[in-house]
Parts: sequence; C-alpha cells; structure tokens
Amino acid sequence: MRITIPLVGLFLAFAYARPDLCTLTASGGDDAPRLLKAMKTCVTVTVPKHTTLAIGTRLNMTGLANKHLSLQGTLKFTPDVPYWSENAFPFPFQTQVTFWVLGGRNIRIDGGGTLDGSGQAWYDAFAANSSTPRPIVLTIYQAKNVVVKDINMIDGPEWFNLINEGENIVYDGINIDARSTNANKIHNTDGWNVYRSNNVVIQNSNINNGDDCVAFKPNATNVLISNLQCNGSHGISVGSLGQYDGIVDIVQNVTAINVRMSNAQNGARIKAWAGPGVGSGLVKNITFQNFNVDKVDNPIVIDQCYFTSAANCTAFPSNVYIEDIWFTNVTGVSSGPLVAALSCSPDGRCNDINVNDFSVVPPSGTPKLTCQNVDINGNAATQFPLCAVTG
Ligand SMILES: *[C@@H]1O[C@H](CO)[C@@H](O)[C@H](O)[C@H]1NC(C)=O
Ligand SMILES: *[C@@H]1O[C@H](CO)[C@@H](O)[C@H](O)[C@H]1NC(C)=O
Ligand SMILES: *[C@@H]1O[C@H](CO)[C@@H](O)[C@H](O)[C@H]1NC(C)=O
Ligand SMILES: *[C@@H]1O[C@H](CO)[C@@H](O)[C@H](O)[C@H]1NC(C)=O
Ligand SMILES: *[C@@H]1O[C@H](CO)[C@@H](O)[C@H](O)[C@H]1NC(C)=O
Ligand SMILES: *[C@@H]1O[C@H](CO)[C@@H](O)[C@H](O)[C@H]1NC(C)=O
Ligand SMILES: *[C@@H]1O[C@H](CO)[C@@H](O)[C@H](O)[C@H]1NC(C)=O
Ligand SMILES: *[C@@H]1O[C@H](CO)[C@@H](O)[C@H](O)[C@H]1NC(C)=O
Repeated sequence: MRITIPLVGLFLAFAYARPDLCTLTASGGDDAPRLLKAMKTCVTVTVPKHTTLAIGTRLNMTGLANKHLSLQGTLKFTPDVPYWSENAFPFPFQTQVTFWVLGGRNIRIDGGGTLDGSGQAWYDAFAANSSTPRPIVLTIYQAKNVVVKDINMIDGPEWFNLINEGENIVYDGINIDARSTNANKIHNTDGWNVYRSNNVVIQNSNINNGDDCVAFKPNATNVLISNLQCNGSHGISVGSLGQYDGIVDIVQNVTAINVRMSNAQNGARIKAWAGPGVGSGLVKNITFQNFNVDKVDNPIVIDQCYFTSAANCTAFPSNVYIEDIWFTNVTGVSSGPLVAALSCSPDGRCNDINVNDFSVVPPSGTPKLTCQNVDINGNAATQFPLCAVTG
C-alpha cells in the first residue's frame, strides 16, 4: 500500500502530461509530424485556441476519409525559404508548389483559427529573385465532399488556395489577408484557383490580396461564388484559358453573385489566348451578377486576344469560344474613364454576350465603353459604341 499510492500518482501524472494525440499542443519544434499522425489516427483533431503549431515540413494528407480538423488556433508555416524551395510539393500546372495537399473524402476544417503562410520571407525572397518557388498555402487535391469553414488565411507566399481535381467543395466564412510590412510587393496572392474541379462553392468571405480574388482555371465547372468582398485584387477571373497547344480548356456553369470589388484592377473578367500555337476550349454559361465596384480599373472585361498582338489575334483568332455570358446589375465607380471593355477575336468566336442593368460611372467625366468583334445583347447594349470589327 505504501508504495502503490505514489506509483498511481506517478502514472496519473504521466498520463496527464502525455499530450493527447488528437488535441495538439505546440512542441517547440516542428509540429508537422504530430499533425500528420493525428489526422491519420483520429476522427477529430483539435488545435486549441491560443495554440500555434509550427509547420516546418510539408503536409501530405492525401487519401483521408471522414476527418474533422477543428482549427481554433494557428498553423504557422515556417519561413524557411530554402527548405520549402526544395521540398514543397510540385504541381505541373503553372509550375506551382504547395505546403499542404489535402485529399480524400468527407473532410471538414473549421474552428475560427488561422493558416499563417509567413509570406513576408517570400515577398522579400521574390523581390531578390523572381524564380524563388513560392508555396500555395492549402491545396485540395483529388478530394470529394470537403468543407472549409470559418478560417482565417494570412500572408500566403503566393496563391492561398488551389482546388485541384475536387468535387463538392465548399468554402464558407473565409478571411484572407496578405500584407507586406515593407516595400516588397505581395505578388500572385490569388484567393482561390479552381482547376479541373466540379461543384465548388465559395461564399461569405473577405479577401484582401494582390492578385485574382477567385480564378476559374481550366475545367472549373458548376461553381457558385456568392457574397464576397474583394479588396486590392485583380478581380473575379475566368482564365486565362487556351494557353497550351493541344490542351482543351473548359469553364462552364459559373455564377458569381453579390460581389463587392474595391481597389481592384478588374471586376468581372474573362481572358483567353489567341495567336499561333496555342490551345483551345469553351467558356459557356457564366453569370456575373450584383457586382458593386469601387475604384476598379476595368469593371467588366472580355479579352479574347489575351497576351496576343492585334496582328496575331487577327491572323490566329482564339480557339477558346466564349458564349452565354451575362453581366447583370454591375454598379459603382471605376477608377478612370474606362467602365467596360469587351474585346473578342474576329470570326464570331464570342456569342450570346449580355449586359443588363449596367451603371458603372467614372469618378468624373464621361464613361468610356469599348468593344471589338462582338454583338452585345441586353438593355445596356446601347451604352456601347459601334463595335470595332477586325480580320
Ligand atoms: C502522399 O502520400 C501518398 C500515400 O500516403 C503517396 O501515394 C503520395 O505519393 C504522396 N505524395 C507525394 C507528393 O509525396
Ligand atoms: C533564383 O532562384 C532559383 C530557384 O530557387 C535558383 O535556381 C537560382 O539559382 C536563383 N538565382 C540566383 C541569382 O540566386
Ligand atoms: C484595400 O486595398 C487597398 C489597396 O490595395 C489598401 O490600401 C487598403 O489598405 C485595403 N483595405 C483594407 C481594409 O485592407
Ligand atoms: C477538360 O475536359 C475536357 C472534356 O472532358 C477534356 O477533354 C480536357 O482534356 C480537359 N482539360 C484539362 C486541362 O483538364
Ligand atoms: C448555367 O449555370 C448555372 C450554375 O452556374 C446552372 O444552375 C444552370 O442550370 C446552367 N444553365 C444551363 C443552361 O446550363
Ligand atoms: C451545365 O449545367 C447544365 C444544366 O444543369 C448541365 O446539363 C451540364 O451538364 C452542365 N455542364 C457541365 C460541364 O457540367
Ligand atoms: C444590384 O446589386 C446590388 C448589390 O451590388 C443589390 O444591392 C441590388 O439589390 C441589386 N439589384 C437587383 C435588382 O437585384
Ligand atoms: C506572333 O506570334 C509569334 C509566335 O508566338 C511571335 O513570334 C510573333 O512575334 C508574333 N507577332 C507579333 C506581331 O506579335
């Protein structure tokens, strides 16, 4: 008896001190291996409030099933540019790399916590060497039924989110914020890129970044964007598509509704390549509705001669056909005279382009609307001049 009590006490003390496998605390070193193990072993993994886990090695979380990550605290990716340059997961698409691949089925991340990309190290590295690989924060990869809800994402080195081969993916209540603390710019900090994915919803989110707010890349289909506030971005963009010879790019059935776009390069945009030796595709059934713009350079844009000289666009019109496009109820104030620019390749490559209830005004003076090789339908068609015809 005299020795049992201390032994029990010792055992209890040991059990108590042993960190719970499924509720993670910071180890002081690289917490990635424990997070990986927990995600493999536990149904629910909790990162408590006020806990910051250091992620110093890449996260391969492919093939998960029925998992819940309750992220109340922070995952902070280490600013170890040399390590990540060598070890981030590579993606052939636009030669991207990522910290974290998450795949499988029935996965939920929520909890009000934060993904911190430690971007400043890359903003600085990129300023010194623009070939520095810069990891995407979170890549949903070969996944079905994923919900990411109530999460903050800060200071991504480059894109914040890539959805690569996903089906039924929902982001809801996401706050994205990228800021540089010095003169080095935050480049390519796209909020989301949707690639080869179907049935994607992105809603109720705030984005403060320096590149596309949301971009629909090749084979993004059935996507709903709703209730976003984008600040400082390059807009909601389809494309660019049709860049690569022999590749067919499709973007179809996209609705972007209730978007507030401030201090941005573009509002709603579609861009496709033309010229010799490029690819082909189809952009069909795209609706941009209830956009309110404030200090936006190009509130609505179609550019079917993207990165192509006028001469090459005439000689080699785009093989990405654009049809069934709706700009509806776009209002607000641009940053300069230009309020709309709808420019297609010659030879009828744009069809069924509709602009309704369009009232964007410049800060002062007469609004400028331009168009080329397009028959514009809708009650705002009369605001456009006679469209230029080339080729
Ligand atoms: C991730 O892990 C899976 C299986 O655990 C493996 O098949 C895959 O090759 C890994 N991915 C990378 C990019 O290392
Ligand atoms: C720039 O970064 C790339 C990729 O990491 C590297 O291969 C190259 O050597 C670097 N260039 C200089 C001048 O450091
Ligand atoms: C919005 O973007 C502008 C321009 O990039 C920036 O100066 C401003 O601080 C941003 N506002 C917020 C609330 O982040
Ligand atoms: C897009 O989908 C089409 C039709 O399924 C397919 O032919 C094409 O290869 C896909 N393109 C990409 C970039 O995945
Ligand atoms: C157009 O896309 C929307 C989703 O964005 C979808 O609800 C609708 O059925 C599509 N219409 C056609 C004719 O395909
Ligand atoms: C677009 O939506 C229509 C109507 O719901 C559907 O028939 C069609 O298959 C969808 N297209 C794609 C590429 O998913
Ligand atoms: C037009 O869009 C604005 C938001 O930008 C919204 O408040 C308004 O209700 C919309 N109008 C209609 C008729 O839907
Ligand atoms: C047309 O495209 C070819 C091939 O990309 C390029 O070499 C040429 O400079 C382009 N011509 C013009 C006028 O831009």
